[in-house]
Amino acid sequence: MQEKLSNRINSMATSQTLAMAAKARELKAEGKDIIGLSLGEPDFNTPDFIKEAAIKAINDNYNSYTPVDGYVELKDAIINKFKRDNNLTYDRSQIVVSTGAKQSLANVAMVVLNPGDEVLLPCPYWVSYAEIVKLAEGVPVEVPTSVETNFKITPEQLETAITPKTKMIWYSSPCNPSGMVYSKEELRELADVLKKYPDIIVVSDEIYEHINFVGDHASMAGFEDMYDRTVTVNGVSKAFAMTGWRIGYIGAPSYIARACNKMQGQITSGANCIAQRAVITALEAPVSKISHMIDTFKNRRKLIIDLLNEIKGFVTTEPEGAFYVFPNVSSFFGKTIKGHEILNATDFSLFLLEEANVATVTGDAFGNPECIRISYAASEVQITEALSRIKKALS
Ligand SMILES: Cc1ncc(COP(=O)(O)O)c(C=O)c1O
Repeated sequence: MQEKLSNRINSMATSQTLAMAAKARELKAEGKDIIGLSLGEPDFNTPDFIKEAAIKAINDNYNSYTPVDGYVELKDAIINKFKRDNNLTYDRSQIVVSTGAKQSLANVAMVVLNPGDEVLLPCPYWVSYAEIVKLAEGVPVEVPTSVETNFKITPEQLETAITPKTKMIWYSSPCNPSGMVYSKEELRELADVLKKYPDIIVVSDEIYEHINFVGDHASMAGFEDMYDRTVTVNGVSKAFAMTGWRIGYIGAPSYIARACNKMQGQITSGANCIAQRAVITALEAPVSKISHMIDTFKNRRKLIIDLLNEIKGFVTTEPEGAFYVFPNVSSFFGKTIKGHEILNATDFSLFLLEEANVATVTGDAFGNPECIRISYAASEVQITEALSRIKKALS
């Protein structure tokens, strides 16, 4: 039946984070006690003040199609948020609200890329980037980094990766999966390279902006000479524990925002009306309203790093943001442990699932085949138990 489907879908990889979650669910259904550290989803409830705004919206009879690019009040809340948190100035024509940041990214790829255009993806990158680019007939070009450089690309690497076909560069900071955060100075160095190539568009995915343990968040669009060609992507899934509400947005040059609006208008129309009303309240609230979640992530980060460092063979950086650790596990490659031959990160991740009953994700999914991603969006009890099981399975 595969042949009846399009080349487009047949050449697309299945999301490995979702595949791992499905495998973990299967084992759970068989009665195994699986600890899931594979998904990128905060384990908190959406804060009550946001839930109340949604209930009010339902009672106020918000039930119609919204403007394709979002309610004006939401766009204004986003404009104020960009000003307040990032010192970025956008007007309404530059904002598009979508069904999750994932749709925001897909819109941008579809409206910017022509077949064969190259998109630079510093590795490791979020799983969907490469597949979205391919869907838009672009060519993902991986720019490798490693644990030794804290998973950051250097200006020299950027310069070397650029070709006449380079159309965009996409990255997330804080990064899923590595947790690295580009400082303003590091972004400036990358911008200095990009300055020489004025046609390259930057997609700066800032969805983990608030989950940052090292200090100020820096935006590429904050540099005057980059503003006109940077698309700033953000959303409420991570910081506000609103993954299922599906609201993301962009601040972009008007011509790109207009094109995204046109694309979205033919595919999904505006995002969910109730969720949009709730997000107005979420974004208008001071960041202090969500700081308890950030503090919790910070404590868990320390816990998981301490526990990982006790296990021989994991080489890990201290993540500076998001809620993942991305240890290099290549020291286990070539070994046979408890009858499992470990040749790569996928084997290792499966080994952890089967022998430790802990679900993680192979680094292959993120363009880095020597690492695995462990999410610490789980309770301290679960993290402690998971790491103790991993230690035991490897001993
Ligand atoms: C880096 C990054 N960008 C975008 C997204 C998509 O977020 P949303 O839930 O808003 O579609 C995710 C979700 O995992 C992510 O990790």
